[in-house]
Amino acid sequence: MSEGARNASATGRGLLPEGVDTPSVLRAALGRHHYLADEGLATAAFLALRLHRPMFLEGDAGVGKTAVGAALAEVLGVSLLRLQCYEGIDASQALYDWDFPRQLLHLRAAEAAHTVAGEVVDASALEAELYDRRFLLARPLLAALEQSPSVLLIDEIDRADDEFEAFLLELLSEFAVSVPELGTLRADVPPAVVLTSNRTREVSDALKRRCLYHWVDHPDFAREVEIVRTRLPHAAARLTHQVVTAVHVLRGQDLLKPPGVAETLDWTEALVALGADSLEAEVATVTLGSVLKYREDLERAQRLDVTAMLREAAAGA
Ligand SMILES: Nc1ncnc2c1ncn2[C@@H]1O[C@H](COP(=O)(O)OP(=O)(O)OP(=O)(O)O)[C@@H](O)[C@H]1O
Ligand SMILES: [Mg+2]
Repeated sequence: MSEGARNASATGRGLLPEGVDTPSVLRAALGRHHYLADEGLATAAFLALRLHRPMFLEGDAGVGKTAVGAALAEVLGVSLLRLQCYEGIDASQALYDWDFPRQLLHLRAAEAAHTVAGEVVDASALEAELYDRRFLLARPLLAALEQSPSVLLIDEIDRADDEFEAFLLELLSEFAVSVPELGTLRADVPPAVVLTSNRTREVSDALKRRCLYHWVDHPDFAREVEIVRTRLPHAAARLTHQVVTAVHVLRGQDLLKPPGVAETLDWTEALVALGADSLEAEVATVTLGSVLKYREDLERAQRLDVTAMLREAAAGA
């Protein structure tokens, strides 16, 4: 356990670093790591660290859920362990696996050494050697316990199934893993846990109950402009304003997939790559694929009349 984490636990600050005593101080610290949180998110993150509770973030695609985990790890100065969930993920893919090729190599080398020395192989001693920690591959959940303190990002939990969720529930209450051949491995300091979901299905109430919940919304205009400025400082200010305004207009339409911050950044980057310093109708039309990812949405945006959209964008610039 690091000295900082030991001190933080001992003083009841949870996982908060020295000097981070309020949500707004945490918000500023996140900002220094290029993550611009609003007050609600900063407060949820502050409480999650202070009370040492998992934080459950839900929101549309591309609103900055995954990036929060990474930014928190930077603020805390600890490792980020990310578990990307997917359909069919199970405990062994998330926790640990034995490294069979290395075990086999070790077995062959040990047998060869015994043969050269003319000794009889002691099968049970050899088996014990094979189930040593060095042959265990730590997947993200085990790594998060071993590298404590750390930030454990359990990304897109809604893609995993109910069984995996039940397994996670157990892990989040114990922060210990039982490996039959090695015994129980426990975190010195339980990690700061961030769970995210795109809400493709509802996550169980039992899991939510353990967590502090926060819905991550699309940023308002001013914050989104700041995000683009922070992430893409070389983009012209006029272009940034226009792109953000246009994205906000698009979000107001009934699209299959409203653009997230990720798309705002992609669109700006594409326009900068084409040498644009303002959003003109022609270049906007040919680059709409950076921001809309469904044919129906593209058709809708084109019907929308890009010129009218740009007029609004210009008004907002
Ligand atoms: N508040 C923010 N401050 C700085 N950058 C942000 C912010 N929100 C989003 N971003 C940036 O936008 C991009 C998309 O964010 P991220 O991948 O975290 O979204 P997400 O909600 O996890 O999306 P998905 O649901 O598709 O996984 C990233 O490049 C991220 O750094
Ligand atoms: Mg994500």
